[in-house]
Amino acid sequence: MAEIGKDILFARQLLENGDLVAIPTETVYGLAGNALSATSVAKIFSTKNRPQFDPLIVHVPSLEKAKDYVSEIPDLAKALTEKFWPGPLTLLLKKKNIIPDLVTSGLDTVGIRCPDHSLTRDLLALLDFPLAAPSANPFGYVSPTEPSHVNEQLGEKIKYILDGGVCPVGIESTIVGFENGKPVVYRLGGLSVEDIESVVGKVQVQTHSTSNPKAPGQLKSHYAPTKKVVLGKIDQLIDAHSSKRIGILSFQKDFGLPNQIILSPAGSVEEAAQHLFSALRAFDKLPVDVVLAELIPEQGLGRAINDRLRRAASE
Ligand code: TXA
Ligand code: MG
Repeated sequence: MAEIGKDILFARQLLENGDLVAIPTETVYGLAGNALSATSVAKIFSTKNRPQFDPLIVHVPSLEKAKDYVSEIPDLAKALTEKFWPGPLTLLLKKKNIIPDLVTSGLDTVGIRCPDHSLTRDLLALLDFPLAAPSANPFGYVSPTEPSHVNEQLGEKIKYILDGGVCPVGIESTIVGFENGKPVVYRLGGLSVEDIESVVGKVQVQTHSTSNPKAPGQLKSHYAPTKKVVLGKIDQLIDAHSSKRIGILSFQKDFGLPNQIILSPAGSVEEAAQHLFSALRAFDKLPVDVVLAELIPEQGLGRAINDRLRRAASE
């Protein structure tokens, strides 16, 4: 198993040696390596079993540093960074040559973000390279939101997990790119569409793509737990699954049944986002055959939560 601790100097040493370190962010834990080293980046893909056509996000300590890696920052992108960085927003921007093609799977844009977690910000400030970091889970599975999640799945393959506790946002960053200068949301995430629109006006949301996705995070079945998830009205689903061992994943309501997880008894979408992935992981260990789940109100982070629930439920 990996060592878990808060030693950013040890993390720096490993990263400078070309090793990988799991890092906390406000969204989910990342599997980080030197983004400027093709060898470290190749290790990220192999450790996660991730296909090389799925590009990685590059993490920087500031907008100033981002300028070393991207060739142009549209005004609207700049406005978004001023308001939301550090924070759960990834921007797709034209990359400079210093970013290896392996990072971007050959695309001419790089996903770049400035994470909002003090430990990882302190680490980034110590490094003279940015960190490529996908979520620290095997490809296709639910993202990790605490160190034990990372250790259970990747602990045999990495040496160190930087312990930043439970991720406060709990759902991956929102990805925004630009088409003919217009902002497009490619992945719903920890920054709400409403918040983005408050800065740049109406945006297009294009999170479902067909056979050749620009971002495989858009694949219909992704972020999926092992147990089957069925979405609908929970009371009706309970009747329809009476012959099975059921788990219940509700937003707010207590159904008074065993193997039930309530995402937010107080009805807060932020709290529900924080608990979503650990709940999906928990069901994988509970004695249930099927998880009956409901969508939550399509507002704020509710949209991103519903996106993940639909993907988790997709065959
Ligand atoms: O919150 C997050 O974004 C976390 C933390 C660790 O920062 N990272 C994360 O990375 O979720 P990952 O690799 O699990 O998901 C990144 C998504 C992928 O679906 C990838 O295809 C997409 O971003 N992506 C990255 N670069 C891209 C690019 N240049 N064009 C289109 N999609 C891109
Ligand atoms: Mg991921």
